[in-house]
Amino acid sequence: MYNDQTVIITGAGRGIGASAAQIFARFGANVVVNDLEAARAEETAHAITQAGSQAIAVAGSVTDPDFPAQLMQAAIATFGQINVLVNNAGYTWDGMLHTITDQQWQAIIDVHATAPFRMIRAVAPYLREPAKVELESGTPFSNRCIVNVSSTSGLHGNIGQANYATGKMGVVGLTKTVAKEWGRLGIRCNAVAFGYIDTRLTRAQEIQEETIEIDDHEVPLGIPQKVRTLLNQDMQLRIPLGRAATDQEAGAGIVLIASPLASYITGHVLEVTGGMGI
Ligand SMILES: NC(=O)c1ccc[n+]([C@@H]2O[C@H](COP(=O)([O-])OP(=O)(O)OC[C@H]3O[C@@H](n4cnc5c(N)ncnc54)[C@H](O)[C@@H]3O)[C@@H](O)[C@H]2O)c1
Repeated sequence: MYNDQTVIITGAGRGIGASAAQIFARFGANVVVNDLEAARAEETAHAITQAGSQAIAVAGSVTDPDFPAQLMQAAIATFGQINVLVNNAGYTWDGMLHTITDQQWQAIIDVHATAPFRMIRAVAPYLREPAKVELESGTPFSNRCIVNVSSTSGLHGNIGQANYATGKMGVVGLTKTVAKEWGRLGIRCNAVAFGYIDTRLTRAQEIQEETIEIDDHEVPLGIPQKVRTLLNQDMQLRIPLGRAATDQEAGAGIVLIASPLASYITGHVLEVTGGMGI
């Protein structure tokens, strides 16, 4: 389905991004795997090449203003074209609103809203110019699209996540704007809003002891055990499918909406939530 297409996925060293990268590859895509952690990005790319598909790892932070151009250039140098950009990289740095520092606010807005904006601006010539050539010559458009990863916290708000909810709703506005600006060129832009996916973002903070380093801060990742117990208690009531999703199920949602079968779907927010909130 993705034969000869190039897909860039940020934050694909683990979790949802790594799963999406492997599913894209299974359906024929050449994959550019980005992650902040070089070893993790290499691991995902290696798993793809071992399975007989093509992938490269490009380590770097999506919040580095120079990085988007470097990522696009690496994709073009290796695969010659770009078809799909998935803005997936992210993390949480939670706190009740009245305690959130400026640094905590800005870091989360940077990774979930500013970085996707810069990535989309950097990919613009590689998606728009070949589309213009197709438009002028009357050739049907190739599959070209962007998928931005959002969250139910963005759509509905969430206690302790004022910064994250703002970033994740911001990216929905960005998605719809790109859909409107680039639609004439056949370039689609959609968002996928995840609910409760089993990754290190939602595992018990105290047990996994995972952190991400942001400037001078070690930010603990995961959900405090106390909150997680509460969330799990009423899971059967809150989620019609009655469980969290695997990272493969979440990754599949991204692959689904990026696919050529979704050629008339743009500006949409696909909720991958097991039915939560319907
Ligand atoms: N897990 C959930 O329940 C859930 C729900 C809604 C939305 N999401 C979103 O899904 C996306 C993927 O999250 P996940 O659950 O797979 O988490 P994860 O922690 O398993 O994976 C996220 C990856 O992003 C990378 N990353 C973080 N900051 C980066 C940066 N600045 N530059 C490059 N890479 C960076 C991390 O190193 C990590 O490998 C995120 O945007 C997250 O906010 C997750």
